[in-house]
Amino acid sequence: MCHTLAMRVLIVDDEAEPREFLSSVVSSWGHHVEQAGNGEEALLLLDSISVDVILCDLMMPRLDGFEMLHQLRQRQDVPPAILMTAFGSLDKALKTIHELGGFWFLEKPIDVKALELLLRRAAEQSRLGQENQELRRQLSFSGLLGDLIGQTPPMQEVFALIRQVAPTTAAVLITGESGTGKELVARALHSNSRRGGKPFVAINCSAIPESLIESELFGHERGAFTGAVDRRIGAIQAAEGGTLFLDELGEMPIPMQVKLLRVLEDFRFRPLGGKQEYQADVRIVAATNRDPISAIKDGKLREDLFYRLNVFQIQLPPLRDRKEDIPRIVEAMVVNMNRKHGTTVKAWSPAFMDYLLKASWDGNVRELRNVVERAVIIAGEGTLESHHLAPVFRGVPDTRATFPEQSVSTLGVHIGMTIEDGERLLIEATLSHAGNNKSRAAVILGISTKTLHAKLKQYRLTMEETADEESASGAFPTR
Ligand SMILES: Nc1ncnc2c1ncn2[C@@H]1O[C@H](COP(=O)(O)OP(=O)(O)OP(=O)(O)O)[C@@H](O)[C@H]1O
Ligand SMILES: [Mg+2]
Repeated sequence: MCHTLAMRVLIVDDEAEPREFLSSVVSSWGHHVEQAGNGEEALLLLDSISVDVILCDLMMPRLDGFEMLHQLRQRQDVPPAILMTAFGSLDKALKTIHELGGFWFLEKPIDVKALELLLRRAAEQSRLGQENQELRRQLSFSGLLGDLIGQTPPMQEVFALIRQVAPTTAAVLITGESGTGKELVARALHSNSRRGGKPFVAINCSAIPESLIESELFGHERGAFTGAVDRRIGAIQAAEGGTLFLDELGEMPIPMQVKLLRVLEDFRFRPLGGKQEYQADVRIVAATNRDPISAIKDGKLREDLFYRLNVFQIQLPPLRDRKEDIPRIVEAMVVNMNRKHGTTVKAWSPAFMDYLLKASWDGNVRELRNVVERAVIIAGEGTLESHHLAPVFRGVPDTRATFPEQSVSTLGVHIGMTIEDGERLLIEATLSHAGNNKSRAAVILGISTKTLHAKLKQYRLTMEETADEESASGAFPTR
């Protein structure tokens, strides 16, 4: 008869006679057998050896089978277990199977044929489990970390750093050009830490009006300021036990940076208008697409805050420095886009990929995503061809380039931006050109003043902030 691979089987039974009998039967099938007289003994043994299958009596003095498996589960993955039940203990066996999952049971006295069959199945499950683990290990080393894809050496370095830093509570500063995946890294840091089950709260420091940023961060009591009709929990409190992601840190107003630094000293904070101080348990991860050193020089980033947050810096390489990652990223994107748009794209032509590999990707992975999304929508099914790419992408002259004076590129509009971002940029520039005169700006933009007002409200832009942002930079919130 053909036996399955030899396994290491642990037989746990308080009665020596049936235990010895089973041992000899199981070893005669070519398996290696270990024995334990009760749950405690078994746990001790499992501290030093690992087994493929546990054959376990349910009713035992000291530590019964249920408790033993329960305790084992807290420490490690439980190997497949076959429970041996005496007459009348079926309820308990079912409860064990139900609560601890993935087990079989055999009624005593043991039918040897049935046991042999079960052992074979258990071997199969154990082998599958190991393969799964191996697969997971390979995947994590071969270019996947959470939603991040990257097999090239610079990305592998990033992955290694994430794995190293994630389990600690050290603050992390993520830098890199726009669209390089800073938010994905922040999320990977969170989910690879013990805080993974707790909240991940992201605040975009550039999207919040300066007057509100303090209450966003610290919360406020009712009536703390005009408009504070209700008590509000701030981001620090919302992230309790988890991770607080400060996105676009370089856009945070300087006075706020001072306050943030103070919180980072001892993690104590007080909501606006509140008397009580709270102790926060949050892990801070910050990101900026500015070069921090020049941001410090330009007075946009406080040096002390930088040093406080820069315990670890993870610098994301631009996509142009890791183009070999493009095919794998595109593959994942096509799968996502098919799901999102109900399309059935299955492949791409060599010419299509050629264009992608040659592009300079100033907007990095975000730009790539937008290009792929457009191509998938246009193609709808089958193969992505180069004509599914926008003309400008294929080097076909862009009519926009013929605009005189303020050309689109001087506004910083580029592929990879959303329509909303581009629109906001145009509105801001036009407003500034019109000396902040809204009705004039509306005429130039070809929309009604009412529409312009609505859009400004939508972007939560006031005239003052427009002026502020003007002098700040071309970086805008991405959501
Ligand atoms: N390595 C990667 N693998 C797969 N997808 C990625 C990768 N990096 C980025 N992306 C995707 O690209 C897009 C932009 O990523 P993300 O928002 O994290 O960039 P960012 O660096 O935070 O940009 P910004 O500075 O503009 O906020 C997202 O859709 C993200 O899913
Ligand atoms: Mg971002």
